[in-house]
Amino acid sequence: MKKKLEGKVAIVTGASKGIGASIAKHMALEGASVVVNYASSKEGADAVVAEIEKAGGKAIAVKADVSKKAEIERLFAQAKKSFGQLDILVNNAGRYEFAPLEAVTEDHFHKLFDLNVLGLILSAQEAVKHFGPDGGNIINISSIVATLAPPNGAVYSATKAAVDAVTKSLAKELGPKQIRVNSINPGMVETEGVIAAGMSEGDFRNKIEADTPLGRIGQPQDIATAAVFFASSDSSWITGETLVIAGGLR
Ligand SMILES: NC(=O)c1ccc[n+]([C@@H]2O[C@H](COP(=O)([O-])OP(=O)(O)OC[C@H]3O[C@@H](n4cnc5c(N)ncnc54)[C@H](OP(=O)(O)O)[C@@H]3O)[C@@H](O)[C@H]2O)c1
Repeated sequence: MKKKLEGKVAIVTGASKGIGASIAKHMALEGASVVVNYASSKEGADAVVAEIEKAGGKAIAVKADVSKKAEIERLFAQAKKSFGQLDILVNNAGRYEFAPLEAVTEDHFHKLFDLNVLGLILSAQEAVKHFGPDGGNIINISSIVATLAPPNGAVYSATKAAVDAVTKSLAKELGPKQIRVNSINPGMVETEGVIAAGMSEGDFRNKIEADTPLGRIGQPQDIATAAVFFASSDSSWITGETLVIAGGLR
């Protein structure tokens, strides 16, 4: 059977670990050549590339801070140089920091918005320049917080609500070019980032699991399989959607 992404080229931002790493691996298993972007963890990105190559796939690791326009341009140029085309952009790189209102600072605001919103828009802008005449596919990794909006997360939730608005707007703007734009909005997923933030164990996790109909937090592959769906022709008439994947939590 033909693989779902055979002959396609994908850039996955923030793919050295967590959800991005899993998306990169799943897309490669379906035949895509994958650009594994990272900010600082060369080791993590190289390990993702090695795993893809071991399974018979194609991938390269490219360091770029995707909150910065010049680095985004370099990332896309490198992808084109290595694989000759671009079909899929997964805007996954994102920061999550929670802060009660009194602890919100300009720095906190700009750090989150520069990556989660500005970087995502500038990456989409660059992708559109590189997609071919048949169009392309943009998948934005948003979050359930866009609609759940928990306390102590005004800024983070605002970035992801912005991502959902960007998804809907760009879907309308780019549809005539056959470029589809969708969001995936995960609930809590056990990733390196969540573990490092100390959220993967204890009361925080227990409360979420108690409120989740399917009774568990997510794993990166729960998100990656949906990203493959949005990137493939299985979803060819779907654009501008936000898919919450959170075990039924709302
Ligand atoms: N995990 C969850 O519970 C959850 C839930 C909902 C939504 N999300 C969203 O899912 C996405 C991934 O989350 P995750 O938990 O998988 O994250 P993670 O484990 O913290 O990994 C973050 C990834 O993003 C990269 N990154 C960070 N800043 C970057 C930058 N400026 N430029 C390029 N890459 C950068 C990191 O690269 P380095 O390793 O090189 O720093 C790493 O590969 C985020 O957008 C997050 O908001 C996560």
